Amino acid sequence: MKEYKLTKELLNSLREIDGFPLGRDEDIVALSDPPHYTACPNPWIEEFIREHGKLYDEENDDYKREPLAADITEGKNDPIYNAHSYHTKVPYKAIMRYILHYTVPGDIVFDGFCGTGMTGVAAQMCGDRETVESLGYRVDDEGNIYNENGEKISKLGVRYAILNDLSPAATFIAYNYNTPVDVEEFEREAKRILEEVETECEWMYETRHVIDGKVQIKREVDGTEKPIMGKINYVVWSDVFVCPSCQKEFVFWDVAVDKEAGKVLDEFNCPHCNALLKKKDVERAWVTKYDKDIGKTIKQAKQVPVLINYTVEENGKKKRYEKAPDEYDLELLKKIEEMDIPYWYPTDPMMFKGEKWGDTWRAGVHFGITHVHHFYTKRNLWVLAAFWKRINEVERYDLMFLFTSLLIRSSKQSRFLAKNYFQGGGGWVGTSLSGTLFIPSLNIEVSPIFTFNNRMKITINHFETNSKVHALISTQSAHHMPQIPSNSIDYIFTDPPFGGNLMYSELNFLWEAWLRVFTNNEPEAVINSTQGKGLLEYQRLMEACFKEFYRVLKPGRWMTVEFHNSQNSVWNAIQEALQRAGFVIADVRILDKKQGTFKQVTSTSAVKKDLIISAYKPSAKFERTFAEHAETEKGVWEFIEQHLEKLPMPTIKDGKIEVIAERQKYLLYDRMVAYYIQHGFRVPISAAEFYRGLDERFSERDGMYFLPHQVVKYDALRVKSEGIIQLTLSIKDEKAAILWLRNFLKDGPKEYSEIYPEFVKNLHQERHEKMPELKVLLEENFLQDENGRWYIPDPNNEADLERIRRKRLLKEFNEYVATKGKLKYFRTEAIRVGFEEAWKNRYYETIVKVAERLPERVLQEDPALLMFYDNAVSLVDEKPKQMKLVD
Ligand SMILES: C[S@@+](CC[C@H](N)C(=O)[O-])C[C@H]1O[C@@H](n2cnc3c(N)ncnc32)[C@H](O)[C@@H]1O
Repeated sequence: MKEYKLTKELLNSLREIDGFPLGRDEDIVALSDPPHYTACPNPWIEEFIREHGKLYDEENDDYKREPLAADITEGKNDPIYNAHSYHTKVPYKAIMRYILHYTVPGDIVFDGFCGTGMTGVAAQMCGDRETVESLGYRVDDEGNIYNENGEKISKLGVRYAILNDLSPAATFIAYNYNTPVDVEEFEREAKRILEEVETECEWMYETRHVIDGKVQIKREVDGTEKPIMGKINYVVWSDVFVCPSCQKEFVFWDVAVDKEAGKVLDEFNCPHCNALLKKKDVERAWVTKYDKDIGKTIKQAKQVPVLINYTVEENGKKKRYEKAPDEYDLELLKKIEEMDIPYWYPTDPMMFKGEKWGDTWRAGVHFGITHVHHFYTKRNLWVLAAFWKRINEVERYDLMFLFTSLLIRSSKQSRFLAKNYFQGGGGWVGTSLSGTLFIPSLNIEVSPIFTFNNRMKITINHFETNSKVHALISTQSAHHMPQIPSNSIDYIFTDPPFGGNLMYSELNFLWEAWLRVFTNNEPEAVINSTQGKGLLEYQRLMEACFKEFYRVLKPGRWMTVEFHNSQNSVWNAIQEALQRAGFVIADVRILDKKQGTFKQVTSTSAVKKDLIISAYKPSAKFERTFAEHAETEKGVWEFIEQHLEKLPMPTIKDGKIEVIAERQKYLLYDRMVAYYIQHGFRVPISAAEFYRGLDERFSERDGMYFLPHQVVKYDALRVKSEGIIQLTLSIKDEKAAILWLRNFLKDGPKEYSEIYPEFVKNLHQERHEKMPELKVLLEENFLQDENGRWYIPDPNNEADLERIRRKRLLKEFNEYVATKGKLKYFRTEAIRVGFEEAWKNRYYETIVKVAERLPERVLQEDPALLMFYDNAVSLVDEKPKQMKLVD
């Protein structure tokens, strides 16, 4: 059998690859399990693809799929999903629907931002009949899979996965999620280690059994009396503050926790001077102590134990009690504090910096929390170190996985949930606010022995359902994956980092410190001020990653990007990055969590939710010929033909047909223009010519365009339906206003008095938008019949109108060009049309100059403007020309 080894030479050559993690060779080797997992760039990816993949064969390739949007939250209660936490996760069951739709058994699926590797689990589970059936699909004896409507959608069978993440903690978790384990052996070893650690460390979690202030005594056989000792389950710790009025210290727990109501009060009284206080008004109390690990005296926020929950065995039965810490408990803590932990544990300065380590650092909370070990109480750190030593001795990944799954729970980040605790109902241990390294004012020290025992059961449950390895895992930056051959991947599902929401490299540092291999955050795709990365840097990194995804994906294949949107500018950056990389976006949907359905997102609507983006890589033939035909109309129609083929077909919902926005002429025009601009070409036809050509070449139905074979299907669907559901559009700018009016006038001419009230109702105009009056909008884009009613012009008239309108808009644009200073109030349509014209004439500098005078937010949030600007910036040196004024 071939031996796979990460030799020194091999590691040296792999160091050339971007995102090679930070760590010593021996630690990288120790963490890796070649060939399936390497805690560095994986040199065996190509071999894996050669062995399992199918070469792309352009001649005989008949791959065809429509884009799919399925619920991405399905399966959050699954034991596998819950075996190890991560800052965000897409449940593997949700991903399975995508993989089943887009691939066939044996295909290769890739996720370049894999996090915990759920894409890999999903790919493998596509071969598991029971799991596939749990999605509501039927599987017949031949392994054919049918959906709820009885349509055959896929075939049962494992798909192979290539997974990658920049973070070694992430890939380590992903590896374990994707690897089979000998459950019996795991259980045996886990229990042995638990017993050993318990025997060695249980004294640290002993407390005297006290009832009504009285220490309970037991009489031994020899007649001597001894206090009854209980086993600590957890200890609640509280911040100590200083009253700004009387300067005396008080314990937050004593004054702010209303035990009856189960509430932490916003306002409380100083126990010394009775002053009414709020948390934000009080000072912290501090302790200074010598930290042997770093050889320094440190000053930290003072926290004291306030409540102990423990178990006592009485007549063979376990019973839980609670008490306030007494002298014995405090003495015990003091004793532990003075002793040395006999094992290795991480003492790295946070982010290798210590004080003010990054964007997750918070003044007040994190003063004096400068090193990894400061996140644990001494005794929890001791027990963790004792577990880690034994786990490393047996070199078992499954146990290491169990260990990392307890780290957050065992740290000071564990939050005490007063409400749940005092009002019963369980669930009193919460993790820290997700996505932060926050240490709560009331935190809970849960013994790792207790947590190990609990999580061991969860882990066994997870491993039992886990089958074989069909995945290969690599640790590097997704923007540079030279080990993956071009055109070799059948499908990509990915959930990229979203802007500045989560600082993965900072959050993962606490795991990575134990693993001794760290994220190299130089190429981390994130908005992070400590790293000096803003929106632009994030977009550039995402673009580089998507370029790599584009290269490795087979032509004509799909990529699904799950994206949690919190800011429109970040969503725009992603869209722009995708398009600049060469992908064509065919469908964008948001999940309506309440209804469990999907809504289409058009470029005109703003969203702050989970988005499912379906993008494809154009066919090889198209790519080849586009460059030749791009400058002529031919290129335009070839693009549209391919795009229509890839767009989703309308479906019937509640008896009615849902209009597909992307099939409407304006969006088709936008996509075509975007493709041209992103490829550095001039658009060879005007909008009016485009609309006319569209009508001549393709079939129009209900405002949507179809290819001949599609229109036959659509007509059949139309017969079965009871009508059309129009998209609801909010009118935030002129472009949206025109779209809205077209929809509104679709069913026939309307009076101004009918249009006006509805128009106003839907108007949510942006502040900067110099929107023309409704009258002007109607005059510029529509015609009036003999009764004065407004209607949609036929294509010929429309082309004339469009020409006149563009001329007017260009005139307005030229006025902007002629002025100086920031543009605060303007007609966005004029800027768009002006940019289009400037692009056509290669006046890149004009685009850049005007764009830089727009409010930054407008530029970042308008996909068309951003696209022109981004592309013009990179070309400005090529053709330094100013736009000459056109009349
Ligand atoms: C939203 S998470 C993925 C979570 C994953 N879907 C799951 O279910 O666990 C995004 C991931 O991107 C990773 N990341 C950030 N920049 C990266 C880069 N340049 N290359 C590869 N991964 C990167 C982060 O470490 C993080 O794990």
